[in-house]
Amino acid sequence: MSHYFDPVPTAAHRELTLTLTLPDVTLRLGTDRGVFAGAAVDPGTKYLLLDGPKPDPVARGSLLDIGCGYGPIALTLARRAPLATVYAVEVNERARALCVANAAANGIENVIVCAPDDVPGHIEFTGIWSNPPIRIGKPALHALLASWLKRLAPGAHASLVVQRHLGSDSLAEWLTAQGYPTERLGSRRAYRILDTTRKSIA
Ligand SMILES: C[S@@+](CC[C@H](N)C(=O)[O-])C[C@H]1O[C@@H](n2cnc3c(N)ncnc32)[C@H](O)[C@@H]1O
Repeated sequence: MSHYFDPVPTAAHRELTLTLTLPDVTLRLGTDRGVFAGAAVDPGTKYLLLDGPKPDPVARGSLLDIGCGYGPIALTLARRAPLATVYAVEVNERARALCVANAAANGIENVIVCAPDDVPGHIEFTGIWSNPPIRIGKPALHALLASWLKRLAPGAHASLVVQRHLGSDSLAEWLTAQGYPTERLGSRRAYRILDTTRKSIA
């Protein structure tokens, strides 16, 4: 069975171009089969981009999108924070190639698309945004989030959009128990936006 998180998707190609329209950003996004939400921008992603926290428009640090897919979140962050560097990490090579092409097609230069292991170890993130891959299973999801949240700058925030029926409330409890205080920022239909913080060092 194939999944959107397969490193090398085998689904036959069916390329498509979508338009993501937000009040402040419009992006033309090439998609394909074998990637998440290839037929239409995911409603949870759109909710996060519409109602979730926005990056500081003059931020110069490094921002992270965990599991960038073809790039709706990473490229929106790059547009909203043009002086920052956005790391767009993704295991699916087809999705990475789409994200690279979409950055170029939209004239976006401040995004680095790479496999998770290719992010330099010294980089600390001043913000994380993600529609995380819940379907990889709870142990793998927890390991994934723990590995990136420890690279959040003290006092910085991560914004995660998660479907309620896929365990948003238990994920919030787990994050808080790990030492990342997490609260629900918003809730619309099936989705929750979770705000997670790395505590400041006293
Ligand atoms: C729910 S999708 C969101 C994709 C995209 N951000 C969007 O909003 O359309 C989660 C993404 O995480 C990717 N993924 C799965 N496991 C991963 C991992 N260990 N590291 C990075 N990305 C991963 C999947 O391939 C998938 O593209």
